[in-house]
Amino acid sequence: MSAHAAPRKRVTLGSLAAKKDAGEPLVMVTAYDHPSAQIVEEAGVDLVLVGDSAAMTVLGYDSTVPVTVDEMLMLTKAVRRGLSVPLLVGDLPFGSYEASDELAIATAQRFVKEAGVDLVKIERGGATVDRVRALVHAGIPVVGHVGLTPQTATALGGYRAQGRTADAALAVIDDALALQDAGCSMLVIEAVPSEVTAALMPLLHIPVIGIGAGADADGQVLVFHDLLGLYDGGAAKFVKRYAELRGAAVAGVTAYADEVRGGVYPGPEHGYAMPADEAARLRELLAAR
Ligand code: KIV
Repeated sequence: MSAHAAPRKRVTLGSLAAKKDAGEPLVMVTAYDHPSAQIVEEAGVDLVLVGDSAAMTVLGYDSTVPVTVDEMLMLTKAVRRGLSVPLLVGDLPFGSYEASDELAIATAQRFVKEAGVDLVKIERGGATVDRVRALVHAGIPVVGHVGLTPQTATALGGYRAQGRTADAALAVIDDALALQDAGCSMLVIEAVPSEVTAALMPLLHIPVIGIGAGADADGQVLVFHDLLGLYDGGAAKFVKRYAELRGAAVAGVTAYADEVRGGVYPGPEHGYAMPADEAARLRELLAAR
């Protein structure tokens, strides 16, 4: 931002709706800590999701399933401290909302009170629709998530595109409509053929954010570590890499290690100097011991 640019106004559900109505694409990205929050804030995105993808991108689990509420809260609080303009969405992890309305409300309230999220995201249709109704009734705005829902990927046959037959596509569309009817403020639709998104869009009045769901959604979301080339694991077909930061990071640390081992770093310019008279006095004091 230039020194004279007007500060950006905080994103609200109202400003997102206005962008949707004006056909302006919405930009969402994940972030998991304070520096990544500051980076996406400076890049001017509309929405930031502290996704449970954190389980894999920053915590080293091999799926999103094991991550806990406390782990997600710690990451979400760090992101909150780095954001002021975009809307912040907290992802409720697997096992923290499905069993009952009471559980869903108690977990979501922690994300709102302790981590300051603006909305919570929960996955799937089915019983999740009741949880959405309860959360909205409790005053907590909700983002639904349909299509490929990684928390239940095993039940879906693995990490694969959903809705590839007419019947399967109808099931995704029905989930989306049920979540909108239950009061979701927004939807994420993941890994479905673009025909499914195109068929769904005229049926929804809430903003829809796609990931691997074609170009017809109101906006797009990508995982921070995927788009910047920081994640070492395999990337899905829909990921586009906009930078290769992992290679740059390995090269930087390797150069540092080489310089330490070669006696190049630290140079005199990286150290602190003592005034000459103090250094002389120190030598005298040591000599007198
Ligand atoms: O956890 C996550 O990062 C997500 C996005 C991929 C939508 O749910």
